[in-house]
Amino acid sequence: AFPKQVKIVEVGPRDGLQNEKHILPTQMKIKLIDMLSAAGLPVIEATSFVSPKWVPQMADHAEVLQGIEKFPGISYPVLTPNLRGFQAAVAAGAKEVAIFGAASELFSKKNINCSIEESYQRFEEVLTEARCANIPVRGYVSCVLGCPYEGKVSPAKVAEVAKKLYSMGCFEISLGDTIGVGTPLGMKNMLSAVMKEMPVSALAVHCHDTYGQALANILMALQMGVSVVDSSVAGLGGCPYSPGASGNVATEDLLYMLNGLGIDTALGGNSLPGSLAGAEPRPQTRPSRRLYRKAAWP
Ligand code: HMG
Ligand code: MG
Repeated sequence: AFPKQVKIVEVGPRDGLQNEKHILPTQMKIKLIDMLSAAGLPVIEATSFVSPKWVPQMADHAEVLQGIEKFPGISYPVLTPNLRGFQAAVAAGAKEVAIFGAASELFSKKNINCSIEESYQRFEEVLTEARCANIPVRGYVSCVLGCPYEGKVSPAKVAEVAKKLYSMGCFEISLGDTIGVGTPLGMKNMLSAVMKEMPVSALAVHCHDTYGQALANILMALQMGVSVVDSSVAGLGGCPYSPGASGNVATEDLLYMLNGLGIDTALGGNSLPGSLAGAEPRPQTRPSRRLYRKAAWP
């Protein structure tokens, strides 16, 4: 049975924009987030407090977070890889943050420059301060259905990392198919392993759409009881440390499917003018997907 309600976590301003080569003006990012707020999305990941040397596009994180209009009832989490990022985020007014680990050693190294084990220590520092400051922390696990550097990733490893982040105090674990190589059967096997370790109500899925499987994978996750889904407006994005991976599932496509299934999203149905639900179909331009197929996977 499908969940009655699904929470959409909009990650476009972060996951979407972090991969854009051209640095967007800060005002444009702020406008995008304000428009997403006006569309009624309940959670909008606004930016990342990461090193500007690693991800130059996110260098204006403080200005973005301070510049956006904070709609009542909407949360604006930001990524914080370490204590330094956490403190900068809080200073800029963050009320919710996310840490991001991986189920693959090589990806962890490439993405956050440390091993999985070392990452737990960094996250522990963030979680400890966050607890004191009463700031909820989301936990990402990347490469849950495959890694650009290691290939296959076992469901047992995903379950182990997810359980660790959950037991450390993350309120929600977002399972990332970082490079969009999963298929519904892989999603089912991976989720089965993770659901033995934590309640499904604490799980989210985060599907990139490199092979056009994102909606199918999400449908499988919904059938298994997952009720939080990450998406990116217009299917923007990718990860700078997974070359060729395309953006997340498009928010408007996800909403279209959820509406069709009669699942409540708090965004209103197609009849609501001005809401995302009434948006035009997304133009089919996904050059990065073709690019990735040329790369080494599987
Ligand atoms: P490091 O080099 O190991 O860290 O980077 P360090 O502590 O040695 O610091 C190196 C430099 O960065 C220093 O500056 C620090 O001050 C600075 P320098 O002395 O060289 O001038 N620094 C910082 N600056 C700003 N904010 C900070 C910060 N920390 C250190 N918080 C670090 C470690 C984690 C910082 C780095 O590897 C990094 O920033 N990585 C970010 C990678 C990233 O953003 N990836 C994309 C997001 S994850 C993703 O997309 C996946 C997801 O969508 C889920 C999925 O799809 O699976 C979430
Ligand atoms: Mg992602």
